[in-house]
Amino acid sequence: MSENYHLDTLAIHAGQEPDPTTGAVMTPIYQTSTYVQSAPAQHKGYEYSRTDNPTRTALQECMAAIEGGQFALAFASGLAAIDTVLRLLNPGDHVVVGDDVYGGTYRLFEKVHARYGIRFTWVDLTDLDAVKAAFKPETKLLWLETPTNPMMKLADIAALKAVTPSGVRVVVDNTFASPAIQQPLKLGADIVMHSTTKYLGGHSDVVGGMLVMNDESLYQELKFLQNAVGAVPGPMDCFLTLRGIKTLGLRIERHSQNALAIARMLEDHPRVERVLYPGLESHPQYELAKKQMRYPGGMISIILASDEAARRMVSRTKLFALAESLGGVESLIEHPYSMTHASTADSDIAVPPGLVRLSVGIEHVDDLMADVRQALESLA
Ligand SMILES: Cc1ncc(COP(=O)(O)O)c(C=O)c1O
Repeated sequence: MSENYHLDTLAIHAGQEPDPTTGAVMTPIYQTSTYVQSAPAQHKGYEYSRTDNPTRTALQECMAAIEGGQFALAFASGLAAIDTVLRLLNPGDHVVVGDDVYGGTYRLFEKVHARYGIRFTWVDLTDLDAVKAAFKPETKLLWLETPTNPMMKLADIAALKAVTPSGVRVVVDNTFASPAIQQPLKLGADIVMHSTTKYLGGHSDVVGGMLVMNDESLYQELKFLQNAVGAVPGPMDCFLTLRGIKTLGLRIERHSQNALAIARMLEDHPRVERVLYPGLESHPQYELAKKQMRYPGGMISIILASDEAARRMVSRTKLFALAESLGGVESLIEHPYSMTHASTADSDIAVPPGLVRLSVGIEHVDDLMADVRQALESLA
């Protein structure tokens, strides 16, 4: 599909031509594991659904288009997508990673891939000298999130690419932002990774992952691994993700409007010690946010006085559901220290006990503000 279309148009149409035989406007859910062949190895491009499935093809083409990439590969979860990238490496290889990432990413790197001889150096990506110093001859990847989960730190993708030695691939986990906010491939990233469970699916009804890239030989290597390892999504999951993506632009706009209003209110609230949100002038990287991000997004982290205050607040909201995950139409709240990031406890990248993370949904902003306020009042 023409690259000149805007994201909102590509999200609805890319990879989703009306079905040529029936005229169905929506991509069918090809609920099949296999495909008839007219003679041995003679088929219509589909042999077996671990290798390829038409609903998955539609999702992959749509994702490539909205990330501004050439190729995309879908996975059964965000972690399955991350795991597949790590399988490009060999024992003895080294990865430089940002020092604030999703707890499951930390667990996969240090508790699974480290056992196979991959080494990781955790570094503050806002310090370019520290990043340069972390590269070794055996470094193969620079792995980053921006904004980070849960500290909402930003990484300057173009600046990091500029200091990364050639031969080291830059991978950006774009889950917290989504392509409606930033398209890392255009800033020099080699691979964009998503947990499509979050903003892309957008309705908290499906788990999935995605990799998007431009380099064809890298795509072939990853496609080989997608089939060889087999962590693929089923057609129903692909359909749900495709349907969610159609409204991505609209949702991100509303998530961002609501989150900005709530972040401003929180900044003035006496029970909140700090608000971490890239749309606030007080964010240490506000200028970078304006340069790199089209919208500030729907995620806010706040720091309260203590672990106890944080646990109490997350138990008192009525509209914000106490749950892991993020990026759905409904608002969620959680305590990273005891929930999503419990796996980082006692590590160098452990999160503060007083931290509360809000995934601001697209409900009416007045109702959300009232809910957050009453939960904070109950800390008195
Ligand atoms: C930033 C980020 N990356 C990756 C993942 C993992 O994705 P999944 O839960 O779909 O495996 C998550 C999940 O919360 C996440 O927040």
